[in-house]
Amino acid sequence: MTGPVFDAAFRDQLDCLLAWRRDVRHFQTRNMPDGLLDTLLEAACHGPSVGNAQPWRFVRIRSPERRAALIAEVDTQKRAAGEAYSGDHKALYETLKLHGLREAPEIVAVFCDEQSETGHGLGRATMPETLCWSVVTAVQTLWLSARAHGIGMGWVSIINPAGMNAMLDVPAHWRFIALLCLGYPERETDTPELVRHGWQDRLPPTTTRLER
Ligand SMILES: Cc1cc2nc3c(=O)[nH]c(=O)nc-3n(C[C@H](O)[C@H](O)[C@H](O)COP(=O)(O)O)c2cc1C
Repeated sequence: MTGPVFDAAFRDQLDCLLAWRRDVRHFQTRNMPDGLLDTLLEAACHGPSVGNAQPWRFVRIRSPERRAALIAEVDTQKRAAGEAYSGDHKALYETLKLHGLREAPEIVAVFCDEQSETGHGLGRATMPETLCWSVVTAVQTLWLSARAHGIGMGWVSIINPAGMNAMLDVPAHWRFIALLCLGYPERETDTPELVRHGWQDRLPPTTTRLER
């Protein structure tokens, strides 16, 4: 079977998608079209996974009470994490918006099923953490697919993972990986928010490489 051929125009588009994917914290409150979240989660399942284990588990948050509990938890953890900073960084930290949990029309929690027998343990005997890394590949795939549909996504990690299984009533052997906000972004930009706010510039790609 011959696969599709991706031409130069497609590659330009793909580069553009990579450059314009953003972590989004400012969302419009309007809903996403029916079925689009399912489409995006199906795309996420194209991610690679160790032993083809596909250990990702997605929990769509529907209940307003659970959303409120998540907001309270993240706001609490954001305040606590702020204690670690002082001086200019402290002042800047206070101004950062680090989640869109109030406005985003969709919230999805992502877990790794650490007891899944899918994949029969292949590839992770020496590095069991690769199971969780596999889930991150699905998150990145979701991120890109969402952006291609004009949907912004924000990853929220300022959260105590220990409380997540009980809060969301999911099996204890699922390990919490990410809380994701999805919806139409208030604005689109090719510059990360933390760069725009002077928190952290991008590194020149050449400084991230070595040759041996
Ligand atoms: C593992 C992970 C955790 C993150 N946690 C948060 C978070 O809790 N709050 C937030 O605002 N952004 C979070 N981000 C987004 C990063 O701040 C963002 O990816 C980075 O600043 C680069 O911006 P960009 O994604 O728009 O290129 C997280 C990103 C990753 C990959």
